Amino acid sequence: MNLIEIERTLRQLRLSGMADTLSTRVMEAQVGQPPFLETLANLLQDELDRRRSRLTERRYKRSGLDERPTLADFDWRFNPKLPRAACFELHTLKFVGEGANALIIGKPGTGKSHVAKAVAYQATPARL
Ligand SMILES: Nc1ncnc2c1ncn2[C@@H]1O[C@H](COP(=O)(O)OP(=O)(O)OP(=O)(O)O)[C@@H](O)[C@H]1O
Ligand SMILES: [Mg+2]
Repeated sequence: MNLIEIERTLRQLRLSGMADTLSTRVMEAQVGQPPFLETLANLLQDELDRRRSRLTERRYKRSGLDERPTLADFDWRFNPKLPRAACFELHTLKFVGEGANALIIGKPGTGKSHVAKAVAYQATPARL
């Protein structure tokens, strides 16, 4: 098989992440002559990266979030009374793994939805 045929075969096998970087990886291999296993590992990683980012994008769309809030760019001065440690604890998503629910209670307009969205966004990346 030549390069084009290999690329086509990869697509038939639904390995378009590998197909996309194949020619670059081949050139890389011709220049640097890395061990075969290194080139193969890189190609497999390309496929995984591609799948992870596509799945993450699908999960984000399905989440219904209209923005990508994170606790990192959170303005804690907005409401100094927010329990910061508890927010970061939720942000670890441990409760999701435990099948537990998280209840965010507080007075109106104190940032509950803001925190909930950041936690939800944290849960969108695909873990492959
Ligand atoms: N840390 C923050 N930094 C900047 N703006 C914030 C922050 N937290 C909340 N806000 C803003 O303040 C407003 C109220 O926040 P939010 O909607 O999260 O409060 P809430 O507790 O969910 O309110 P409600 O009880 O009405 O549902 C929103 O416009 C939100 O964008
Ligand atoms: Mg709210």
